[in-house]
Amino acid sequence: MRAAAFTDLTGPDGVEIVDRPTPEPGRGDVRIDVEACAINRHDLWILEGDSAMVETDDLPFVTGLDVAGVVDAVGDGVTDVAPGDRVLLCPNETCGTCRFCREGPENLCESFSLYHGGLADAAVVDAARLVSLPDSVGTTTAAALPTAYVTAYHMLRRAAVSAGDLVFVPGATGGVGVAAVQLAAVLGARTVATSSSASKLDRVAELGADHAVLGSDPDDLRDAVSDVGTPDAVINHLGGPYTDLGLSLLRRGGRMVVCGRTAGARSEIDVPDLFLGHKRVIGSTMGTQADLERLVSLVEAGDLTPEVDETYPLESTAAAFAAMQERETIGKLVVTP
Ligand SMILES: NC(=O)c1ccc[n+]([C@@H]2O[C@H](COP(=O)([O-])OP(=O)(O)OC[C@H]3O[C@@H](n4cnc5c(N)ncnc54)[C@H](OP(=O)(O)O)[C@@H]3O)[C@@H](O)[C@H]2O)c1
Ligand SMILES: [Zn+2]
Repeated sequence: MRAAAFTDLTGPDGVEIVDRPTPEPGRGDVRIDVEACAINRHDLWILEGDSAMVETDDLPFVTGLDVAGVVDAVGDGVTDVAPGDRVLLCPNETCGTCRFCREGPENLCESFSLYHGGLADAAVVDAARLVSLPDSVGTTTAAALPTAYVTAYHMLRRAAVSAGDLVFVPGATGGVGVAAVQLAAVLGARTVATSSSASKLDRVAELGADHAVLGSDPDDLRDAVSDVGTPDAVINHLGGPYTDLGLSLLRRGGRMVVCGRTAGARSEIDVPDLFLGHKRVIGSTMGTQADLERLVSLVEAGDLTPEVDETYPLESTAAAFAAMQERETIGKLVVTP
């Protein structure tokens, strides 16, 4: 089979199409004929040598978390899925025994990790991590959900966003950003979305953002967002200066949930503003398999249409990462092996 492997960690030129033996499913596993696999900024960090998870000794490395396709072989002991089933992988890998696995939520597992390997013709995965796809939910659409949409959904829930809230989404044009805008609308909340690109912002407004603010300078954004209103919640996947920005804009008692560091791994905050304003800053990573199942149901019901900007054949995986690196894209990019 073919796989899109990272063979060096210097950026998109490090992606090569390699031949590998087709893997056989072990006990409890299934092999999926991969029809679609979305890419995420997480994969780009790895490819740019900016992730502690993969180092040059680990190369070649095949990433790809968000796998959707058709089961084509099952290992011993697998009874819940059968060849021919259309499925979506929840990429969570958990120990199953720690207190968080026992009490939930599972994404707090003390040994939490993620499946990697979907950028290939076939992927062997844990059968217990599969979500069944209704006929009306295509595999390209489904592949958008497991990382970006589940993370945004879980963040909105942790921020206790409800109908009528104003949610600030800095950097609203990428995977997590667009998902936050669309899912906030599903919850009945209003959003203020920002981007450095006017054309991408137009698209985010079409996708449901109530207010669009163009710009990238945090001080300019502070003024423009204040003109719109006082956010009840901030969905912050950027980190860096956007953490202080979000905190300063929040209403008293407001919640900011943080999941990323695209604009910087360190943030300064105004500590008195935090405690005098009774504000909350909440860290969040991924979500649960139950979150993913809920999102598939929302898509099936017609309440959510994940935004897939472009699909790429496996041979063009490098081009997909280059487009993400150049900030040319909106929503999700999906590789279709
Ligand atoms: N903890 C978790 O479980 C989890 C899960 C998913 C993602 N994440 C993190 O969340 C972040 C977003 O992931 P993603 O896959 O949605 O990424 P993405 O699709 O590449 O996000 C693109 C968005 O980020 C903005 N952006 C890119 N570079 C920027 C910069 N230097 N300064 C300010 N804004 C910038 C873009 O703004 P423009 O519109 O201006 O181009 C765009 O809105 C990443 O840090 C990722 O690691 C974490
Ligand atoms: Zn655990």
